[in-house]
Amino acid sequence: MPPSRIGILTGGGDCPGLNAVIRAVTKEAVRNGIEVVGFEDAFVGLINDRTRPLDIETVSNILTAGGTILGSCNRSNPMRLARGHDASGAPQFVDVSADCVAHYNKHRLDALIVIGGDGTMSIAHGLAQRGLNIIGIPKTIDNDLAGTDITFGFLTAVDTATEALDRIRTTAASHHRAIFVEVMGRNAGWIALHSGVAAGAEIILIPEIPFSVEHVAGVIAARSRVHKRYSIICVSEGARPQGGSQFVARTDLTSPDPIRLGGVAKFLSDTVEELTDEADGEAGTGVECRHAVLGHIQRGGTPIPADRVLATQFGHHAMGLLHAGRFNRMVAMQHFALTDVPLSEAADKQRTVPIDHPLLEAARAIGTSFGDRPPE
Ligand code: F6P
Repeated sequence: MPPSRIGILTGGGDCPGLNAVIRAVTKEAVRNGIEVVGFEDAFVGLINDRTRPLDIETVSNILTAGGTILGSCNRSNPMRLARGHDASGAPQFVDVSADCVAHYNKHRLDALIVIGGDGTMSIAHGLAQRGLNIIGIPKTIDNDLAGTDITFGFLTAVDTATEALDRIRTTAASHHRAIFVEVMGRNAGWIALHSGVAAGAEIILIPEIPFSVEHVAGVIAARSRVHKRYSIICVSEGARPQGGSQFVARTDLTSPDPIRLGGVAKFLSDTVEELTDEADGEAGTGVECRHAVLGHIQRGGTPIPADRVLATQFGHHAMGLLHAGRFNRMVAMQHFALTDVPLSEAADKQRTVPIDHPLLEAARAIGTSFGDRPPE
């Protein structure tokens, strides 16, 4: 029997291109006589049976829109849903995955298309083990999903971060300052590496290469001595000092991903200003420092053309898996070719930057510092 009804949801942190995927899947489905049920706010919609029908009208004009028309939520793991607290105030968790199975069956779905990152793929994998036919589509600005070389949303985030770094450069140059720009990425330095190289940042700090704050200060001071009186430092939120820990901005024990990173750029700005001041031996002659945190700006706005294209291709590949009856797989891009991998390959695994990555080597070759070595 050919498929007649599918569900679709978007999970985890949003990113540019989600609507482009929803549109691609819905348009191809409708053209093939398949009905599409959208579940709202990630797995919350599946748990509570909160749906909306998707048709050509509802996906009209959303290709360029940021965010997700279905809404998202990163506290909606049906296998471990936070419900209430114990006497000490610690959150309690319940397994409501049976509700998901019941609602999937109620809508007589042939498959559920799940668009998300590693956490969402892990939940999808759990639901596949409970009998649902799942097709995963990889998204995240962090580009840290295992099994695929690229996720949609990443290139738009790099574009946004690069534009911000370019703008920071002119004010840093005017005021002879070192400015530390903190970008997102969790435990992976992909956004920092790509936007840092694209913007010609003098120093790029990524989680995969712990930095020495003395070396960072040394590179900045050395530049300032040769009349390069400003520096741009692109810092991944997950970057950490050698022998030290990552900077945690907040924790949320009810979220499957409880740690939110942040604060490293402020630490560096304060510390490097102090260190360069001492290095000069004369108060007031050091390098003045500032920091900027780009935050969720990187997640918002219109997807750039490359992400619209990728999202459309991913949606089409997902429909191919549906027609072939190949479930519990995630769409992927490997060596510039569309493919798919078992969900288990992407579930709860993060793909970080290999320290021998060619882009890292190219950056070092042109003199970019990664804060792990003294100034040349
Ligand atoms: O995974 C995407 C991401 O934007 C990370 O880069 C960042 O660490 C995190 O999500 C922020 O999460 P939240 O939206 O919950 O603050």
